[in-house]
Amino acid sequence: MPNPPDYSWSVQAQQPVDYQVSMVQGLLDPSNSSLARACGADGVRKVRCLVVVDDVVDELYGDRFRDYFGAWNIEAAWQPAPGDETAKTLEQAVAITEAMSAMGILRRTEKVIAIGGGVVMDVVGLAASLYRRGIPYVRIPTTLIGQVDAGVGVKTGVNHGHHKNRLGSYCAPTTTLIDTEFLRTVEPRHINNGMAEIIKMALVKDADLFELLEIAMPVVDAGMMADRNPLSIEIIARAIAGMLSELEPNLWESVLERSVDYGHTFSPSLELRADPPLLHGEAVGVDMAICVALAHNRGMLSKEDTDRALRLMCAAGLPVTDAVFTAELVSEALRDAVKHRDGMQRIPLTTGIGSVRFVNDLTDDEIERGLDFVSQWAAEHREETA
Ligand SMILES: NC(=O)c1ccc[n+]([C@@H]2O[C@H](COP(=O)([O-])OP(=O)(O)OC[C@H]3O[C@@H](n4cnc5c(N)ncnc54)[C@H](O)[C@@H]3O)[C@@H](O)[C@H]2O)c1
Ligand SMILES: [Zn+2]
Repeated sequence: MPNPPDYSWSVQAQQPVDYQVSMVQGLLDPSNSSLARACGADGVRKVRCLVVVDDVVDELYGDRFRDYFGAWNIEAAWQPAPGDETAKTLEQAVAITEAMSAMGILRRTEKVIAIGGGVVMDVVGLAASLYRRGIPYVRIPTTLIGQVDAGVGVKTGVNHGHHKNRLGSYCAPTTTLIDTEFLRTVEPRHINNGMAEIIKMALVKDADLFELLEIAMPVVDAGMMADRNPLSIEIIARAIAGMLSELEPNLWESVLERSVDYGHTFSPSLELRADPPLLHGEAVGVDMAICVALAHNRGMLSKEDTDRALRLMCAAGLPVTDAVFTAELVSEALRDAVKHRDGMQRIPLTTGIGSVRFVNDLTDDEIERGLDFVSQWAAEHREETA
């Protein structure tokens, strides 16, 4: 018999991922079966689910959700949850697992339904991945960031220390249902916030989307994004399609060169340190502006495209500078990003509108010159940055 250390087993397995992301019109209309099917309901047999709903969304749409669940014979345990960034904590995720426990949710057949913005998507996703090591959940994103980004991928997370999403998991929903009608009540600042992630997708891979955004931005507001007009639908659908085509081949981030990390190199360390606070998309906006300047200063992005990119961010109401993005803190943030990206910078920089290249040799001096470029640009375009 060999000694125990001489025994060796190799275990290999693959986990299939299969989920649907759908744009749905009239999600809360009882004649629309999309949500009922996502809950496993047929209207005859009683089914149960746990609804975790952003408390603002509960105020605005709770009665319509309750009517819908009633019409489909779905017994919904109701768990309102705070939906702002300060509530994106491990304690909140644990509180949601306790609600699962309190209702005695069945491990495979009963679903958790997450309804709200990116915060509720991320916290409920983490809770669902923790509870009994993973139970099925459905996402119904109700903000623009939720609909084009946080609601469509497989990442979950909560903030920890000063850092965004420091604790998290990969856990695919069973279904994501997107009804743009929810956007009608989203505050203007949060529409702008979502625009940051759409501009990101345009900059890294979709020049046509960029042109659509240039046309649409002067008339963008919550009502316009909620209406199913051809322009707003195309903008949202292109952003989702672009995001999914980047995520699908690399769901677990085995490749750390991710173009969707554009604008997410420096911001994850600085978003929570800004005073007054920055929304996620606003911090991404400042990071993108720095990256546009870095690409310009390296001769990778023409002056004309640099102006177009910065102009579009300003037209979307996004900041391009912020006091917390000092040269020192941006350099420090880059050092943390290097750890996140396993020892290399892997910074996506635009090589034109709609394409990126990854760089690994950014210097502190370049960061300083990039910040100077954006400050000077903002000073010369005061009426646009106002
Ligand atoms: N997991 C991912 O891949 C991913 C991607 C992008 C962003 N995120 C995360 O998403 C979060 C930001 O999401 P967010 O911008 O949706 O913020 P949020 O969830 O805080 O929602 C913003 C505000 O809108 C309110 N709200 C939600 N729906 C509404 C509606 N229909 N009408 C009126 N008010 C409504 C909320 O109560 C909240 O006050 C960040 O934490 C970010 O890190 C995650
Ligand atoms: Zn983001």
